[in-house]
Amino acid sequence: MKNNTLVNHPPAVTVASDNRALVAPIYQSVKFSFDDTAETLRYLHGERDGFFYSRSSNPTLTQLQLLLAQLQGRDGCLLTGSGVATIAASLLSLCRQGDHILAFVESYGPTRYIVQHLMTKFGVTHTLMSIVDLEGIARVLRDVPTRLVVFESPTNPVTKIADIEHLSTHARRAGALTVLDNTFAGFHNHGAYDIDVYLHSLTKYASGHGDVMGGAIIARAELIAQMRKDIVSMGPTLDPHAAFLIQRGMRTYFLRYERQCANALAVSDFLNNHPRVKHVHYPGLDGHPQHLLARRQMSDFGAVVTFELDGGFDEGARFADALQLFSISASLGSAESLVMPPQLLAGNEYTAEQRAISLIARGTVRLSIGLEDAEDLVSDLGQALDRGFT
Ligand SMILES: Cc1ncc(COP(=O)(O)O)c(C=O)c1O
Repeated sequence: MKNNTLVNHPPAVTVASDNRALVAPIYQSVKFSFDDTAETLRYLHGERDGFFYSRSSNPTLTQLQLLLAQLQGRDGCLLTGSGVATIAASLLSLCRQGDHILAFVESYGPTRYIVQHLMTKFGVTHTLMSIVDLEGIARVLRDVPTRLVVFESPTNPVTKIADIEHLSTHARRAGALTVLDNTFAGFHNHGAYDIDVYLHSLTKYASGHGDVMGGAIIARAELIAQMRKDIVSMGPTLDPHAAFLIQRGMRTYFLRYERQCANALAVSDFLNNHPRVKHVHYPGLDGHPQHLLARRQMSDFGAVVTFELDGGFDEGARFADALQLFSISASLGSAESLVMPPQLLAGNEYTAEQRAISLIARGTVRLSIGLEDAEDLVSDLGQALDRGFT
């Protein structure tokens, strides 16, 4: 074998089956090969297990899929290259022309974009209403034949809580499927509810370190098998190296989430008693309008704290610029704390009525609470609030 052939057929290294790596290796390979055509065909006909092409399956992704599905209490999972890919891919796969989606004003912006603009192109209609309009939800599901109910809880950014029992009961009665973006609440929450599809941005708490993007669609195996055909053909798969990093992040998921929630509670308490803060949106506070519902549905309250400054864009910008430990940045769920000043939250796509429902105003600030010391975070917020108003 000449060297220019050798570099394309490097020496194989085999590891005996009684000599295991404690951390599963990354299968950074697009292709997998069987010994002969007959075995390849057996695999392609579903007559044997295996791997063939990483857009449809890869061992590193399979390990992460098994883990995440089990944590969420389901037996099927598909991974994608980002959180929004889970939303677009599952809605496209689950709907057909003429279907109707029930979605919510308080949801994450790109989710609303996908429902309002992308799905509309394919003849899928929608109703957009408030997640806390329980009567309206029951009425729409009774009166309008609906394929999907797409929601999140707590909502991004003002942390309203969806009444999951109410939503899922009415959806089931109407024959609609429920799709819950569970990114804020995490894999350890909401698994006991009658939800058909859970979506997660793995970019947030799963990876936890702000250095990798990913998404997971979790559902019962038959539904995942059905969606897999469409979604593998759309091609939004996760890269094996990203899956490896997310798998590594998951080792500390519970420790991080617990600490971030404890920090978020300390920060909310501080803000709640600050004279320059008009209102704090954090479901862990007694004063949150759905605190009891959150307590019933969740084992903790998440690590996003949103609040209303007693001021507007100018104070919000001065406050954010004065913070030392919080970076002005999108995203959430990582080890470091982040801030979104009001200018960056004020999406312009809302009608006046929708804006009122959204509760996003000119003084709304979103914090993603990280793993720093709670006292340091509180003192940083204190000095920045002082600077914001001088
Ligand atoms: C609730 C929610 N869902 C989905 C996403 C999208 O995730 P990604 O940025 O990984 O595409 C985000 C991102 O902020 C989010 O907050």
